[in-house]
Amino acid sequence: MKKLSLLGTGLIGAFYTMSLTGQRRPDRIVNVCSGHEESARKFAEKWNIPRHTTSMKEAIEDPEVEVVVVALPNYLHKEAILMACKAKKGILCTKPLATNGAEAAEILAAVEEAGVFHGYLEDLVYTPKTLKAIEMIRNGSCGRILWTKSREAHSGPHSAWFWDKKQSGGGALVDLGCHCIEIGRNYIGKDIRPVEVMCWAETQVKPIEAEDHAIALIKYESGAISQVEVSWNFRGGMDLRDEVSGTEGTIRLDHWLRTGLEVFTTGNTGNYVSEKTESDSGWLFPVGDEVHSLGYNDMFTDMLDSLEQGREPKETFYDGYIVNAIMDACYKSAGSKKWEPVELAVWRGTEGLSSNVDLIDFDELHYLIKEEKMPDGNIKIMLKEKTTGNIIQKIKSEK
Ligand SMILES: NC(=O)c1ccc[n+]([C@@H]2O[C@H](COP(=O)([O-])OP(=O)(O)OC[C@H]3O[C@@H](n4cnc5c(N)ncnc54)[C@H](O)[C@@H]3O)[C@@H](O)[C@H]2O)c1
Repeated sequence: MKKLSLLGTGLIGAFYTMSLTGQRRPDRIVNVCSGHEESARKFAEKWNIPRHTTSMKEAIEDPEVEVVVVALPNYLHKEAILMACKAKKGILCTKPLATNGAEAAEILAAVEEAGVFHGYLEDLVYTPKTLKAIEMIRNGSCGRILWTKSREAHSGPHSAWFWDKKQSGGGALVDLGCHCIEIGRNYIGKDIRPVEVMCWAETQVKPIEAEDHAIALIKYESGAISQVEVSWNFRGGMDLRDEVSGTEGTIRLDHWLRTGLEVFTTGNTGNYVSEKTESDSGWLFPVGDEVHSLGYNDMFTDMLDSLEQGREPKETFYDGYIVNAIMDACYKSAGSKKWEPVELAVWRGTEGLSSNVDLIDFDELHYLIKEEKMPDGNIKIMLKEKTTGNIIQKIKSEK
């Protein structure tokens, strides 16, 4: 059983609390901190949390507390984490780790120097569907991963600070792209180095300084490419989808708009349907157990089990740092309109992987390109002659 302090009582603070206190979980939030006394008090009352405060320091230094959960606006993550390092507490921080790569590097160095436990709360790599997909990929179901696509789009965030670049560090890319980038890394392999990035980022609709829509391509050393699509302009709820394609298979995941539960209602009931749903009538796509479907339960289980068992969780601040560094390259590319390198001062994965195509021998004279069964029952085989490089086709009759 772990005793925690929660910093932040907004949207994610509430989701984390539902997960941490739900389903007879033994862990306890014993102190909660909010920017406003009234919200801290109400939150503590609602969730039966014994102490509340408006002082981050007080919540972090609470002697009963072993682990601090940072669920604050992006610009406050570093301050909270450095304070928790000083107090020698374990730290779990929401996404993004920081507002940029340099800040993330500072945070990583601080936790490692302090020798404290650190977990990066990237819930979307812990959804039950994602965990299953990752397991299948690791077992070889998709072969060598060639392409991933991760998309998160909705009509924009719920609090003012997200829209202010100085407090958030950026727009849709920082807010949603951090999820998509880490999902791609998990499918491609987190030990494979992200090499370069091409990104388009624009402000299409909202009158803000940051981008409200972005699309990025991230090239990995293995030759895999990861596509990231994020928007704050999408209407119709939260579009949360991933795809993976490899030499032996394909996986498609829809986390939110088509989950298998579809409801039509004529009535405006005023009821909450699911995160970022824009209507409560017409065709609706509620989510059975939001907290579980978004990965929070498996994420906290991994984090707190890892802490107890003295091992690293699946996602650490190192991963948060890599994600921030990739996002920095995305912004650079959006400005230069060129491929930009991912600058990684800290890299702990493999080096020097080759992205060469594996040649498959068909016979002594040919390499196999492809075999396909045609509507007439014949099998067509595409071959490349080893000596000339010419491409030929053969027909093998099935009849
Ligand atoms: N799926 C996810 O992982 C996910 C989803 C949403 C948000 N987030 C992240 O969580 C963080 C918070 O986002 P949110 O949506 O909960 O924001 P929010 O605006 O809903 O809540 C922010 C909370 O921080 C508190 N706060 C602000 N300044 C403070 C201060 N100086 N001292 C103490 N408390 C202070 C506010 O009182 C509020 O309780 C962000 O980093 C965001 O990116 C993650």
